[in-house]
Amino acid sequence: MSAVPAGSPFDLDDDAAYRDWRQRKLAACPRSVSELLVEVADPLQLTATERAALLDRCARSNMAVYVSPPRAGAAAEIPRRIGEQLGLRTLDVNYLADDDGITPLAVADSGVRSAYIPYTNRAIRWHTDGYYNPPQRRIRAMILHCVQRAESGGENRLLDHELAFIALRDESPAHIRALMLADAMTIPARSEEGEVARGDQTGPVFSVDADGSLHMRYTARTRSIAWKDDAAVRAATEALQRILESDPHVLRLRQEPGMGIVCNNVLHDRAAFADSPQHRRLVLRARYYERIEAPALMHGPMPTATIAAA
Ligand SMILES: [Fe+2]
Repeated sequence: MSAVPAGSPFDLDDDAAYRDWRQRKLAACPRSVSELLVEVADPLQLTATERAALLDRCARSNMAVYVSPPRAGAAAEIPRRIGEQLGLRTLDVNYLADDDGITPLAVADSGVRSAYIPYTNRAIRWHTDGYYNPPQRRIRAMILHCVQRAESGGENRLLDHELAFIALRDESPAHIRALMLADAMTIPARSEEGEVARGDQTGPVFSVDADGSLHMRYTARTRSIAWKDDAAVRAATEALQRILESDPHVLRLRQEPGMGIVCNNVLHDRAAFADSPQHRRLVLRARYYERIEAPALMHGPMPTATIAAA
């Protein structure tokens, strides 16, 4: 098990720390996706207010959605510049990404990309990004910028992984213990989206980063993944699947051009979609090793929920 620092709400032996954090977390978390939206006039140059609004939402719920005017040119600059302005500097360069580390996700009719689900119009099951990455390339944040939507479908469901932790721990601390096992989940070598050859990746689902934040590796897919053959791990993954289909905190979003999700690699999925000549879905994805910066006044306790829906 990865070391959980003393006093951490994620330490199963510290019930008081968990209860206190849980109460503040649930009081501050958004009740609807509209609470995540932040209108930004120019994503290349956020105003102090826009930036603070995005950081505030990320601090409460590990995610925010910017809404910017759709624009034709220089689209790849948008996620990169948004990221920089939120403290995200180190892009994970994926084998199928363009050279700059920004990956255009659209249906690929041929070529190497067409063999991977993100480059099809099929549904993608619940996951966090880069669950197959080695620990030194742990994905802590990502951006999904919508350049063009599909004719129909393509929605994302989103769940703050800290809320998934709460739902699991409330059901049974044994679920958390199982999912923190260092060998809970193994991704066999060379099986994943666009990754170059690499060895098996074995690790926990939940772990606590050096800065105390919770990290999650997960995929609901059943192929190309080996769960530890253990009753507690089985019970925990079944509980998680149930939570992902029923938790009231699951949010749904269909992005329009100019919108973007910025998040600390929360749980998400994608519905199947259909393109048309006018609406050919294109989403730019950026993945980072850093987490989104904390708001300036956020080093103390989380604020109470006072945000107005945008
Ligand atoms: Fe993803």
